[in-house]
Amino acid sequence: MEKDKLFIVMVGLPARGKSTIAAKMKENLGKDGIKARIFNNGELRRRLLKKNTSYPEFYDPGNREGAAIREKIALMNFRRARDYLSRKGQAAILDATNCSFARRDMIISMLGDHKLFFIECINDDQEILKASILRKVALPEFRHLKKEDAVHGFERRICYYKNIYKPLKDERNFVKLDSLNNQIIEEEIVDTIPFYDRIRDFLVTDCVKNLFLIRHGETHFNLENRIGGDSCLTPKGIAQAESLARYFKKKTIPIIFTSKKKRALQTAEPIRNLQKDCEIITFDEFNEIDSGVCESMSYEEIRQKMPNVHSARKKNKYHYIYPEGEGYISMKERIDRGVKKAIYLSNNSNNIMIIGHRAVNRMILSHFLFRRMEDVPYIYIPQDRFYHIIATQDKKLFQSKRYDNT
Ligand code: F6P
Repeated sequence: MEKDKLFIVMVGLPARGKSTIAAKMKENLGKDGIKARIFNNGELRRRLLKKNTSYPEFYDPGNREGAAIREKIALMNFRRARDYLSRKGQAAILDATNCSFARRDMIISMLGDHKLFFIECINDDQEILKASILRKVALPEFRHLKKEDAVHGFERRICYYKNIYKPLKDERNFVKLDSLNNQIIEEEIVDTIPFYDRIRDFLVTDCVKNLFLIRHGETHFNLENRIGGDSCLTPKGIAQAESLARYFKKKTIPIIFTSKKKRALQTAEPIRNLQKDCEIITFDEFNEIDSGVCESMSYEEIRQKMPNVHSARKKNKYHYIYPEGEGYISMKERIDRGVKKAIYLSNNSNNIMIIGHRAVNRMILSHFLFRRMEDVPYIYIPQDRFYHIIATQDKKLFQSKRYDNT
């Protein structure tokens, strides 16, 4: 048994982020000069079979024909993975649900030539699951179906897997990963696992290759220095959105994440319209700070009519919570959740775009870039430029960039 070779076995129900994590591992191991390859059962099935296997009954464990085909595909991938490691390959990543005892027994008995390391991906956040399924059913194999039918079918497929699902327990080397929060929930490592420190580290790292963090364009409320509300863009704001759209036309933006507010959506739409294939996903998590009783007031009105609010906030802006509203401190949890959701749904893609608001963007920036708490509410978030953020294991970049606003 060579010491520096490893089978990595993904485990988990469909739409739990396994493939994204597999891709992230391959990429990061590759950067360290470690030869890694993914053996994905779904991909091999789609490549080899002429008939469309997206219908849920194909995954019914009681469907003998479907089960036999799936087993055959799995075996082919085991052999290909073994073959790969017997040559120059160092890490073979088996990307499939691998969620029954029977399947894992097969893996253990067939792939004994090198160490086995299992990664179980867990995520039961229903909103994310729904959004992940929507992204899955946009793939070509579901094109012949109506969206609702495809979603329903995929949910039934998940149910079939749930019936045979057995969480990791007695395997020698495994981690259970909360794949939304990049958090290791359980870790059982008996043997010395090659590259383990590296793998563990990027499993828990929020990785963004390119995050474009934009603030919405100018609004009518901005002109009056009013806070909160749901104001629309001014003609200048619309021009800003259009010039952002022209700027980003050269890049591929698969998803724009934004808030539920009109000003954010009005900024996102022109950008989406100039992309080939782009969708807008809105999260409550990215809504601007709720200023409670002060919503829609101007800073001047607050100073005059609610001097206590004005002075208390000035004294400790990060910790101050608006009556019946929020403060920076209380936004932290939802902003972190929004960022995790955006990263998760982006499937390891090269570009992520978030269109947020002043306070929201400050909090997003401080998610990646250390700032003392008391300085966060003063981070400069202009409307005529955006932040380009890279945060990977080996590179950090924070660049404020102007886009041509003509
Ligand atoms: O003025 C625009 C705005 O996004 C308001 O809606 C929000 O209350 C404010 O900025 C946040 O900035 P600050 O915390 O500096 O008041």
